[in-house]
Amino acid sequence: MKVKINNKVENYRSVWFESASGIIKAINQNKLPREFEIIELKTYTETANAIKIMTIRGAPAIGVTAGFGIAQACMQVPKQNFIHYLEKAADILKSTRPTAVDLFYVIDRILNKIKDTDNAAEDNEKATEISISEAQKIGYETVDACKKIGEFGNEVLKNNSKILTHCNAGALACVDFGTALSPIRIAKYTGKEIFVFVDETRPRLQGAKLTAWELLNEGIEHRIIADNATGYFMQKGEIDLCIVGADRIALNGDVANKIGTYEKAVLAKENNIPFYVAAPLSTIDFNIKVGGEIPIEERSEDEVLIVNDKRIAPIGSHALNPAFDVTPAKYITGIITEIGILKPDEIYKLKK
Ligand code: MRU
Repeated sequence: MKVKINNKVENYRSVWFESASGIIKAINQNKLPREFEIIELKTYTETANAIKIMTIRGAPAIGVTAGFGIAQACMQVPKQNFIHYLEKAADILKSTRPTAVDLFYVIDRILNKIKDTDNAAEDNEKATEISISEAQKIGYETVDACKKIGEFGNEVLKNNSKILTHCNAGALACVDFGTALSPIRIAKYTGKEIFVFVDETRPRLQGAKLTAWELLNEGIEHRIIADNATGYFMQKGEIDLCIVGADRIALNGDVANKIGTYEKAVLAKENNIPFYVAAPLSTIDFNIKVGGEIPIEERSEDEVLIVNDKRIAPIGSHALNPAFDVTPAKYITGIITEIGILKPDEIYKLKK
């Protein structure tokens, strides 16, 4: 992704792993847009904490980071009976966030690779080598998948398309390119003019803080709107289509994404506006049949009650703060993946 620092444009990924030193480097998403900071995570427990406190966030980026965390754990756990300690480390990484399935997919994929390779479960050095190469491979695959999502998604965008997006489903959330923002980036690179309505995305403001920052860096025209202004702009005919990301997709095509996604989808249907979800295949949970089975993260009420370190609600009033909701498949026009744009009812066919 392009990052403008002091009027200079540089290319960055949101997270990467320097395997020789075992250090993960990442853009600190909690400090954007005010400050651009690269953090260093030296241990798998620091990595788990960075995912938990949302320094690194967004489903694919969480998955890739957890993969690097498993490689760190291989380097750090005791050599004696090491597979037991590695599984404990995996549990710590898995306990950070419950909804985005990429986290679980990546950790299990690396653990299975170690267990399926002759002697690797008893040979710490061999396991470390496998975990580093598999984690790096998953990082490259993620970037490649997101680029392809951009190319397929670009086909539904016209010159001057006006798009609504929710939360941050950009390069920050996906290592590079993004899911929902990838078609918008690729459209811009292929010469189309695009206008983006950016939902601010209360309570953590991923839209206002992160998506707007990415679009500004890419020179893509956009306006931030309050979450409750979407219907107004749809009714006025100002939104041509919606593209959002996903944290977990069930076999029936139901999609869990940032809280508020469901209401945008219902409004889009009411106003005859196509509603696309963009996600790599790693976001599909092949063990979950319907959206109602997806675990939804409940976060602290303080995220709702406190704004800029100041309490905005009366003392004594409490808040509810679900971080995700489920959009039923019937509201989704298509799911843009790295293998093409699928109808939600085609997802179950991929299980084979
Ligand atoms: O709570 P977050 O910031 O990790 O949530 C991010 C989202 O919900 C994104 O829209 C999502 O991960 C989809 S695509 C990257």
